[in-house]
Amino acid sequence: MTQDELKQSVARAACEYVAAHLPRSAILGVGTGSTANFFIDAVAQIKQRIGGAVASSEATRARLEAHGIPVLDLNAVIDEGREMPIYVDGADEIDANLAMIKGGGAALTREKIVAAVAGKFICVCDESKLVTRLGKFPLPVEVIPMARAQVARALVALGGEPRLRAGVITDNGNIILDVHDLAIRDAILLEARINQITGVVTNGLFAARGADVLLLATPNGVKTLKAAS
Ligand code: A5P
Repeated sequence: MTQDELKQSVARAACEYVAAHLPRSAILGVGTGSTANFFIDAVAQIKQRIGGAVASSEATRARLEAHGIPVLDLNAVIDEGREMPIYVDGADEIDANLAMIKGGGAALTREKIVAAVAGKFICVCDESKLVTRLGKFPLPVEVIPMARAQVARALVALGGEPRLRAGVITDNGNIILDVHDLAIRDAILLEARINQITGVVTNGLFAARGADVLLLATPNGVKTLKAAS
């Protein structure tokens, strides 16, 4: 199977998960990236049972709307006391604790916000994303532009090698530093430490709030892994 076929198979599995677990007319959180795009295309087939979606990026908003799926404002969802039981998104790396590195598509901040509101985070990946230790994939960090040099210096002090992602401005008007060669021994601690650097908007470690369920595409079918509770 090609990587795209694996992504399509896990997207279909996530759609089945939504059909089985999302209460009728409830709101669905939707992630960003190529796997999330396949998921959006699959979920369009059952759009009548969804009360609307919250998008984690402008690209995801556009794709949902192109399928006729209503996209809701997250603040309005919360202000109206509505629930978002499920968030579905991909990852750049995921480990056995279902901690992740995300942000390869530069959407990490909105992804983290939507995930924080959701009841359950369902991660959809092909098996190339499952790693024994996070960190081979450079860690994306969203940074306020005027803080680039000082944040880079702080990231070097943490042992990483930050590189500016050329030509990329996030949906929030910021830049991305991709941090290479970080030794991620304690992902929850490192996530908090990087977020405390002045000028950092957020970083792509999703460890304090990792995934609850991993749907993992393999050539032998989609495996389901659950986070230890
Ligand atoms: C977007 O910013 C990312 O967090 C994506 O979720 C992640 O890069 C996975 O993308 P793919 O499904 O395209 O690999």
